[in-house]
Amino acid sequence: MPNPSLLILPGDGIGPEVMAEVRKVIDWFGTHRNLTFDVTEDLVGGCAYDKHGTPLTDETMAQAQRVDAVLLGAVGGPKYDDLDFSVKPERGLLRLRKEMDLFANLRPAQCFDALADFSSLKKDVVAGLDIVIVRELTSGIYFGEPRGIIEEGNERVGINTQRYTESEIERVCRSAFELAMRRGKKLCSMEKANVMESGVLWRQIATEVGKDYPDVELSHMYADNGAMQLVRNPKQFDVIVTDNLFGDLLSDAAAMLTGSLGMLPSASLGAPMENGRPKALYEPVHGSAPDIAGQGKANPIACILSFAMALRYSFDRGDDAMALEGAVEAVLAQGLRTADLLGEDGKDPVTTSEMGDAIVAALGAG
Ligand code: NAI
Ligand code: MG
Repeated sequence: MPNPSLLILPGDGIGPEVMAEVRKVIDWFGTHRNLTFDVTEDLVGGCAYDKHGTPLTDETMAQAQRVDAVLLGAVGGPKYDDLDFSVKPERGLLRLRKEMDLFANLRPAQCFDALADFSSLKKDVVAGLDIVIVRELTSGIYFGEPRGIIEEGNERVGINTQRYTESEIERVCRSAFELAMRRGKKLCSMEKANVMESGVLWRQIATEVGKDYPDVELSHMYADNGAMQLVRNPKQFDVIVTDNLFGDLLSDAAAMLTGSLGMLPSASLGAPMENGRPKALYEPVHGSAPDIAGQGKANPIACILSFAMALRYSFDRGDDAMALEGAVEAVLAQGLRTADLLGEDGKDPVTTSEMGDAIVAALGAG
């Protein structure tokens, strides 16, 4: 069997700083777990524009299509704010998502016990929380036609259209059921079938796909109630699947149940490739954080947990993913904090590199 392949795109700002810590983790798995990746590294975003005049070259795009998984840091920064829209750093990321057709965006909300006090909710509501929201990412109201601002009579009308085909709903629901199978076997589908036809169709198709997954307990919830339940008692959920718009809102709300932006990983998955693995891009939720770039202040955990997701969802190494998450939990329990986890007057933060080293140390010599 050939080694699994990874394309690493550190990007701009703190991207390269947090990715350097992921490289330490990848090396650890090579040495201690006989899990060696064929790694290629390339440019994306502003740094690619600086060198090639485009935020993503065709060669890099082709490589992304070939590898088993792509791991990305972050793109963008004030230096590029005045660039033409067509070559802005973000366009590189959008092109990756679009051409790889990454229709299922997975956003976990996982609360590490040591950080439960950091949540804006009561500790016992979030302690031990571990849920995943699957957001449809390539269709729905952000893409539907007709759209625009038109003149009608003597006023302007803003138009967007929620449009979902059966196959678009089916594939994202299938991803969510597959995910639920690997987790707590509970899936809650959220829409507004009470007021939206696209929601009626969504509910029907979720139910139909569910027949292929008799072991998964499927429930349906109106998305507004879902928002309420997420804040009231988030631990009632395991996996949630929802459309692009509701998923945008619900995943941001769920993310903040657990604290800092510097802790949040994500995965975007597409259709299965020939080897059965889904096309996949893993990246932290945060951006390039230009305000702290180059100062050793960035929290590498979001990027490291994104790699844990890659182990789980692209490489079938759920045990190794858990070991890595356990190492993160252990260093947090020891009291190690980067500046973002300390608040205004926090003392003695560790650096990006110290946090990475501590996580590798916690993985152990095993
Ligand atoms: P941001 O996520 O870069 O930063 C927001 C705030 O959180 C900043 O104060 C930052 O210092 C802090 N922060 C973010 N990640 C952190 C980490 N790992 N450790 C410690 N603190 C962290 O969002 P912002 O400021 O809105 O955007 C900055 C640049 O990043 C822009 O050019 C934006 O377009 C780009 N961006 C890129 C994204 C991506 O590559 N996926 C996503 C969001 C923004
Ligand atoms: Mg959002």
